[in-house]
Amino acid sequence: MKVIHTEAEWKPIWSSIFKEGKQLGFVPTMGALHQGHLDLVAKSTASMDYTVVSIFVNPTQFNSSEDFQNYPQTLEADLAQLEAAGADFVFVPSVATLYPHPTHLRFDFGDLEHVLEGAFRPGHFNGVGLVVSKLFHLIQPSRAFFGQKDLQQVAVIKRLVQDLSFDLSIEVVPTRREKDGLAMSSRNMRLNPEERIQALLLYSCLTQAKERLLAGEPWTTVLADTQKAFSNAANTKLEYFALLHPETFEIFDTFTQAGARSLCIAAYVGPVRLIDNLPIIP
Ligand code: PAF
Repeated sequence: MKVIHTEAEWKPIWSSIFKEGKQLGFVPTMGALHQGHLDLVAKSTASMDYTVVSIFVNPTQFNSSEDFQNYPQTLEADLAQLEAAGADFVFVPSVATLYPHPTHLRFDFGDLEHVLEGAFRPGHFNGVGLVVSKLFHLIQPSRAFFGQKDLQQVAVIKRLVQDLSFDLSIEVVPTRREKDGLAMSSRNMRLNPEERIQALLLYSCLTQAKERLLAGEPWTTVLADTQKAFSNAANTKLEYFALLHPETFEIFDTFTQAGARSLCIAAYVGPVRLIDNLPIIP
């Protein structure tokens, strides 16, 4: 496994992969890797000739400097895990490499950016759009792999690829969960043992809501009970719980089995903001 830091190091490698006519898979990450990331790497190594993983904590997608400062960084452990997982290349750029000058470009992802993550984290998707575009241009993969846990990010990136005609395909990999259901996330590393237990409320609300909606209970009742469960639980704060179309992110205020539907949730557990989602009708 080769670790590279600059575009100059990557270009000759890319040229020889291209000349060989080989397929390059790409897994963009912000490091602090867990099994969910390794699932993306496994998908890539299974179907592509070469796999490159990027590790870059992208400053432009954090709308809170506290969140950016506290984002876990575990580079040595990440590299060891990637070596064991069979990644061929790891791209670890500096901020100056990816952002040699201040950026002025602003993305508008339409409706996607006015709801849920877009509404609660202003500027977040602009930062994601910027860094992912830069990485796609630089790495030039044939396919890129993203986790379904960041469902709205997936919708944003699909729109980015379509609107800017990036010549690559996107593969979405199901959310990896801990045995008790908590969605794996780099942010889980920041939970203390008590918060780790409290964090289970997100997944239990999702699974109970899915069951109740499919049994015919109205969405308004399910939503009100979820809000109540959070206001009764210590040390948690619900930001949103929404019923929506998983690609357009159209938000519904009633549940029908007429088309694809997912539930999305965001909540604070102590100081840590967590998100999760569950398809009801895929
Ligand atoms: O999902 C993430 O880890 C990040 O948003 C991404 C796609 C690597 C861009 O920084």
